[in-house]
Amino acid sequence: KARVAVLISGRGSNMAALVYAAKALDCPFEIVLVASNDPEAAGLELARAEGIPTFAHSHKGLKRAEFDAILDAQIRGAGAQFVALAGYMRLLSPEFVTGWADKMLNIHPSLLPKYKGLHTHERALEAGDSHGGCSVHIVTAELDDGPVLGQTEVAILPDDTPDTLAARVLIAEHQLYSRTLADYVRRN
Ligand code: GAR
Repeated sequence: KARVAVLISGRGSNMAALVYAAKALDCPFEIVLVASNDPEAAGLELARAEGIPTFAHSHKGLKRAEFDAILDAQIRGAGAQFVALAGYMRLLSPEFVTGWADKMLNIHPSLLPKYKGLHTHERALEAGDSHGGCSVHIVTAELDDGPVLGQTEVAILPDDTPDTLAARVLIAEHQLYSRTLADYVRRN
């Protein structure tokens, strides 16, 4: 199976979806490390309970490249072949991105190229869009900008708020990420 490291900064529900997907016998990937730039990230506890090695180190007081080198050493030490960003809310250094070129995926809660960055659901609602959604893409140097591998559209309801829309998009994220990562590691 392809060895995947997952990077999180918080709740880790997408990480959990990948962990559960990996339990299927025919899943082509396994999660070998969950790493976070926030030692308090709630997802770390879930990963530990699932018996997955974790690494947590605060980025505070470190230069970006310095912190990313620490992260990179942990990921390579775990023997990972792919990196999956799952709510990892920190920009990565160019060195790190280059080192994982075509081996690192991200999930973003919008229909890219729309709404890169933050507050995606709020922006979709303000624009009067009929659909929100999520995208999985290859990570390149530009934020939320690499080639899109898969998307799921989610219909916006008349009474949606950013929170209600986010909650429905999250359901789609969990399915899209496991499916797209599985396809990707099979082909790469
Ligand atoms: C998810 O909605 C993910 O798409 C988003 O953060 C949330 C993390 O939730 N990511 C980004 O906005 C990245 N730019 P999770 O920790 O429960 O997976």
